[in-house]
Amino acid sequence: MTDFHSHILPGIDDGCKNVEESLQVLKEMAAQGIERVAATPHFYASHSGETPDEFLIRRNNAERILREKIEGEEGIPEIFCGAEVKYFRGMSGVEDLTKLTLQGTDLLLVEMPFSKWTDKEIKEVLSLNENLGVTPMLAHIERFFSYQKNLDWIYEFKDAGILMQMNAEYILGTFSSRKAIKLIKNRAIDFLGSDTHNPTDRKPNLGPAIKKIAKKAGEEYIDRFLRYEETYAPRG
Ligand SMILES: [Fe+2]
Repeated sequence: MTDFHSHILPGIDDGCKNVEESLQVLKEMAAQGIERVAATPHFYASHSGETPDEFLIRRNNAERILREKIEGEEGIPEIFCGAEVKYFRGMSGVEDLTKLTLQGTDLLLVEMPFSKWTDKEIKEVLSLNENLGVTPMLAHIERFFSYQKNLDWIYEFKDAGILMQMNAEYILGTFSSRKAIKLIKNRAIDFLGSDTHNPTDRKPNLGPAIKKIAKKAGEEYIDRFLRYEETYAPRG
């Protein structure tokens, strides 16, 4: 299984502070049966003014430091780099965002605004596909549920070729689990992620979430995620 959302690169965002934390997190992921992990550090164009190229210099540096550290380590997940791109106005016209797709795929992890989305914002995201030729994958969609009127948008977005990522914590949560399983059974969710930030308070938890899906929804839903992954599997 692949973890499609994590902040495991050292010292690049609010995720792992150093390479020791990164290694600790990777080992825990492996212990949970995770084979591949997408390293998706935050890219905040509108807050920081950083360009995709400037971000890539930092990301590649963090990746190099991590790869040096894990060289020779056995049984840890394969790492594929991408980014978690925070929504910004005009993003569908920024050609360089294609450089931030998950390595070996055309998937671009997009974090939507934490507010009720305007028609303009929805249009912007819907045009990412057509304008940039990327496949948007919306990060932790459950975190936006309370801002929108209902969940119809999920299916409208999916019809437009946008894919949905859910965080493991929503599947595991006492009060959210039932809703999460229902959405998974409705085939609303395409990718799972842990959104791991560190080994302590935002730690790897995709393994238990997968077990819960198998138990509550059925093994066939795990198979569905795996089949989906084959289509979009990160490749080196
Ligand atoms: Fe994240």
